[in-house]
Amino acid sequence: TAWIVLYIAASYLVGAVPFGYLAGRCRGLDLRKEGSCNIGATNAWRVLGWRWGAPVFALDFLKGFIPVFGALHWLPFLTGDSAGWDFNTAVVLVCFAVVLGHTYTCFLGFKGGKGVATTAGVLFALNPAVACTALATWLVLVGISGIVSLASILAAVAMIVAGWWMYPLAEGGSISSQVLYIAFFTLIGLLVIFKHRSNMARLFNGTEHSFYSKKSK
Ligand code: G3P
Repeated sequence: TAWIVLYIAASYLVGAVPFGYLAGRCRGLDLRKEGSCNIGATNAWRVLGWRWGAPVFALDFLKGFIPVFGALHWLPFLTGDSAGWDFNTAVVLVCFAVVLGHTYTCFLGFKGGKGVATTAGVLFALNPAVACTALATWLVLVGISGIVSLASILAAVAMIVAGWWMYPLAEGGSISSQVLYIAFFTLIGLLVIFKHRSNMARLFNGTEHSFYSKKSK
């Protein structure tokens, strides 16, 4: 149990590494004061250009993917029961820890990013079918609108719907473990939407930034 708690705590700390903020610092800028004032990959891309934005996305994605991929493959050795409820509880706690690490990072006074890239990494490790549904939604909406926040909000909705739809159909696993995963998709989806409050306000008053226009913020 101590190892599992340690793994969950380490996952939070990995999620908490603010790559976007660090990239900004490398360029002498504080992303919390530029563009949308967010430390995520979108704002890194917007403010610093794709040469910084793309690696920030990759790193934010990987810090979600690696701890969850590791949990799925290594936690059975720590829990001693790969099919049991405890294993699934531990995996879901790792998923929460890593996303909460990014969105409420202890390294920046618990004011972190919006969790999109990190949640994508978690999803690809956890359930590629749910991940691809959310990614397809995101790509179509970014392609049509050029507005990343709109795509992210609707991709979060797609994740929740896909999670509810697909998990009951998944083979194996107990009802309680399926409830756990569905709870994860629902709560993290709602968190991502909640984190986009300022974007929603801008979307409603028509001032949200689109990569197709030159308007800032
Ligand atoms: O990754 C967050 C994205 O959905 C919105 O970012 O910088 O436009 O608020 P931003």
